Amino acid sequence: MTTHTYRTIPESLAVLKNEQLAQSLYDEGGVIMEGTLLTLHGEAHRTRRRLEMRVFKRSFFRYYETEVFPRALAELLGPTVSSGACDLVDFGYRITMNLTADFAGIDRPTRSTGETAELLELVKTFSEGATLVHSTRDKDEVREEVRAALRRFESSFLRHSIKRRVALIEQHGRGELAEEDLPRDVLTVLLRNEDRLELPPELLCREIAFFLQAGSHSTANSMVHAMHNVFEWMRQHPEDRERLLKDRLFVQRCVHESFRLHPASPVAWRKPVCPMHLENGTALGLDDRVELDLYSANRSPDVFGADAEVFNPHRTVAPGHEPFGLTFGTGVHTCLGRDLDGGFVPRGAVDPETHQYGIVAQLVRALLEAGATPDPARPPERASHTARPNWGSYPVVFR
Ligand code: HEM
Repeated sequence: MTTHTYRTIPESLAVLKNEQLAQSLYDEGGVIMEGTLLTLHGEAHRTRRRLEMRVFKRSFFRYYETEVFPRALAELLGPTVSSGACDLVDFGYRITMNLTADFAGIDRPTRSTGETAELLELVKTFSEGATLVHSTRDKDEVREEVRAALRRFESSFLRHSIKRRVALIEQHGRGELAEEDLPRDVLTVLLRNEDRLELPPELLCREIAFFLQAGSHSTANSMVHAMHNVFEWMRQHPEDRERLLKDRLFVQRCVHESFRLHPASPVAWRKPVCPMHLENGTALGLDDRVELDLYSANRSPDVFGADAEVFNPHRTVAPGHEPFGLTFGTGVHTCLGRDLDGGFVPRGAVDPETHQYGIVAQLVRALLEAGATPDPARPPERASHTARPNWGSYPVVFR
């Protein structure tokens, strides 16, 4: 087997857009990822994605940011601020857990702290399973934990969520419930399955578990990275402190810049589905692997300037490129949550009142407004259970 590694934006774009290359980063994490959207290829991927895209429409992002998000934020932020301090990693996981459960379609009848904590524990295990390739733990042990977590998830959360939705879908079928009164989530779309796709129960369970981990894990980690970058920026550039509290578009720029420097997955892997040649002429056999170093590509000076290695929300990006680089991928597997988390990139003048900023920018803004600042007594620490460069703990106090 030969591994071909690419570290630039043009090479990465060519690979991600090549439809003869299939996903391979999650082969190791098959215990949860097998058959899920991210691992599918060709027609199977196209049809599943088309079905699930019914949730991720432009109107949904707006509804989510203006209605679902403020409710979930108010529920958690008030008590957190009153307590005077929190760990951003823990806060990030809890808030994104509630949000992700809403769009995945998992009911939490009591919405209690204990219930969120239980779901969170399950989803952390799913995340470890999905990113098994980067785990520093014994892999078979993690697989066993994931199997047990899937069983618990099915009996404690999924079963009831399915039952309630099936009843609503039937009511809708009898003309007793309007279309707009059905839940707007992935589980409902999969249960209605208007495209008649093959979706056996175990696959449905893995798909929803995958959505829960895809949505919460990367959102929470990205929020903590963004807060760290913003704290550091305010320390080095006190002249921007006021602006960060007042200018929502500037906060979004900071978040996009932080996304660029900290892609949730620092690499993407692909494998050929048949013997083939890449655009640059490289021949690939069936056993070969193409590895994209997105972390380095996102620091290409040609696209992001000579200071591409550092955080600078005032930078100008080469035309035709996103400010967050390849953090949300591109091509057929482009992240379905990109606009939800990152909002829309302003192209020219936008109305700050109606602009969609994305969940991460909204979270950063809310935390800054609440006076969050790094806890001088407890410095942040890196996560130790994964080779991915995430924060394991980030204590803050509210001033
Ligand atoms: C900052 C947060 C996020 C980042 C950085 C991120 C990043 C990514 C990346 C890089 C991919 C493509 C992987 C590849 O091509 O190998 C991807 C795919 C995906 N993401 Fe995200 N993601 C984030 C948040 C979310 C959220 C909130 C959701 C929930 C809707 C989500 C759902 C998905 C799904 C379903 C896919 C698979 C798409 C497909 O295979 O067609 N992501 N994400």
